Amino acid sequence: MKILGIDTSCDDTSVAVVEDGRKIRSNIISSQVDLHQKYGGIVPELASRKHVELINYIIDEALATADTSLADLDAIAVTNRPGLIGALLVGVSAAKSLAYCYDLPLLGINHVEGHIYAPCMEHDQLTCPHICLTVSGGHTLLVEVPAGWQNYQVLGSTQDDAAGEAYDKVAKYLGLGFPGGKVIDDLAQQGQDTAVHFPRPMLNSGNYQFSYSGIKTSVRNFVEKAKQNQTLPPIEDISASFQAAAVDVLVTKTIRAAEERGVETITLTGGVAANSRLRKEMTQVATTIGAKVFYPTIRLCTDNAAMIAGLAYHKYLQGQRDELDLNASANSEIGR
Ligand code: KG4
Ligand code: ZN
Repeated sequence: MKILGIDTSCDDTSVAVVEDGRKIRSNIISSQVDLHQKYGGIVPELASRKHVELINYIIDEALATADTSLADLDAIAVTNRPGLIGALLVGVSAAKSLAYCYDLPLLGINHVEGHIYAPCMEHDQLTCPHICLTVSGGHTLLVEVPAGWQNYQVLGSTQDDAAGEAYDKVAKYLGLGFPGGKVIDDLAQQGQDTAVHFPRPMLNSGNYQFSYSGIKTSVRNFVEKAKQNQTLPPIEDISASFQAAAVDVLVTKTIRAAEERGVETITLTGGVAANSRLRKEMTQVATTIGAKVFYPTIRLCTDNAAMIAGLAYHKYLQGQRDELDLNASANSEIGR
């Protein structure tokens, strides 16, 4: 069964064709990073306008790469929640037009559920239940995922900033541009992670909640003070020390959740799951409790439409069909 998926939830215009939930025939991603870079963050209105300009071309490219045509598809899936409302509406409108013109079933998919699904597209051995850590620019969520890709049990989430947001803001304070995750990750690999001790908020809070605004603020305060005193350590050391603190909390809470809930499989997903330290440390610590860690290749970690088309296959089999009045929603919980 061939599904065309569309994701325009944030600043990437992505269209994919996926067969039977896992076989990725195409996964085209057009990044808008250059457009937003000079503003130091995503400008929602610019993102929507760029999606409008690109969407038809990206659909054509995804079909051509998959060597298929609209007439050959079985369904259209689209991210309709959560995300930037104007950006989401572009994808939803395109998906509705295709579904109407080609008389295809339409499925609205939750973007975060798409991220949660992504690791299974490349790992046959991945079983449910598993504990999934979803970490991106907009989300920091710890979830127990039962079989069937529904009835998720949310164990914890961030009380303020998302982990990726903290990376991006710290990069801004350090003058490293936007987005900051990969730059900090690369610099951190050449620095001393014990150079500065940054706090690990909520590490021992006794629950699975996270907080990232405190780490971010302490990096800013440290940098400002060190600059005044002319004692600023190398940027590699600040990056490594921040990354150690950020990852420490993610690993500790995820491992604790797996242990306490007796689950032996852990997945990492979302843009921050591309982080080298997070992947390495989670894998190392997991072995000490006899758990296995799975994460997608980088292209499936960050925003992409393949995860949307892949998850839609299971939702289709479960009977989901949406009407042409399908709407977009900026906020949405998973499983709804
Ligand atoms: O999933 P994603 O592409 O978009 C959202 O749904 O937010 O995630 C983007 C986030 C950004 O905050 C970016 O800085 C972060 O993922 N990111 C990373 C790395 N690569 C991307 N964070 C840490 N280390 C990385 N290597
Ligand atoms: Zn995302």
